[in-house]
Amino acid sequence: MDVAKAFSLADKSAIVTGAAKTTGLCYGMATALHDAGAKVALVDISDGIFGLAGSLGGEANGYYAVKANLCDKESREAGFAKAVEVLGGRLDILLNGAGLQHRCDAIDFPADKWDVIIDVNLSAMFYMCQLAARVMKNQPGGGKIINIASMTSFMGSRRIPAYAASKGGVMQLTKALSNEWCAFGINVNAIAPGYMDTELTANMIHTEQGKQHTARIPAGRWGKPEDLQGSVVFLASSASDYVSGAILPVDGGYLGM
Ligand SMILES: NC(=O)c1ccc[n+]([C@@H]2O[C@H](COP(=O)([O-])OP(=O)(O)OC[C@H]3O[C@@H](n4cnc5c(N)ncnc54)[C@H](O)[C@@H]3O)[C@@H](O)[C@H]2O)c1
Repeated sequence: MDVAKAFSLADKSAIVTGAAKTTGLCYGMATALHDAGAKVALVDISDGIFGLAGSLGGEANGYYAVKANLCDKESREAGFAKAVEVLGGRLDILLNGAGLQHRCDAIDFPADKWDVIIDVNLSAMFYMCQLAARVMKNQPGGGKIINIASMTSFMGSRRIPAYAASKGGVMQLTKALSNEWCAFGINVNAIAPGYMDTELTANMIHTEQGKQHTARIPAGRWGKPEDLQGSVVFLASSASDYVSGAILPVDGGYLGM
């Protein structure tokens, strides 16, 4: 294997969902894919996506912005089609990162929060995988689908029942799709970030529960968006062609404790 070539994403086209904020994990992963050579279409419900793609050099630099509500069939399908179009009709990589969380005692957990979290984190992910696989199956070279899971794919945690249920689903969905699509040359894998220091967890990191997590992380610290960059490039590249159905924890050793 020519290792440098195997890890290169030159001439590849990627869709990344959920990368509207520079502080988020998906932004870090999107820029990693781009730095490895890929053109990247950022798909998100937030208008922030336009300024963000612009600040990264926009279309002239291989960053495209497409606004879509991934929970709405029409918007999702139009957004997906637009993204594939701006990428030149090919889709090599789909990174499914859009996600929501809500923290509340399970006994009082609101139904609307349950519905929207399952919708964004799991159902919309499945439909995006399906759209991507229909393109990837019919193109030479297949493709790479990377779903963003979580520590709560493995454990239930507390006070985030919808999030934990959705991320448990992400793990099983990843395996189920891999089983069917690997034969088409489509690798389906997931990255399970550990406890990451981002806006999503800002209200938790300094709580008693947050401190307990820190104490349990062998690396001795919460992760940063940069910690996911190597793993996402690996799973998006031909270096991982024989890896499928895997859930890769990037957690500073947390799950091993
Ligand atoms: N931050 C963490 O500690 C952590 C840990 C483990 C896993 N994750 C997962 O990583 C992923 C990214 O997290 P993040 O930290 O970047 O969060 P983030 O809040 O920065 O990003 C989530 C993105 O999803 C988008 N989104 C929400 N609903 C949408 C919809 N209906 N349609 C389109 N886009 C929608 C938001 O606009 C936002 O840009 C999520 O799946 C999250 O569950 C995060």
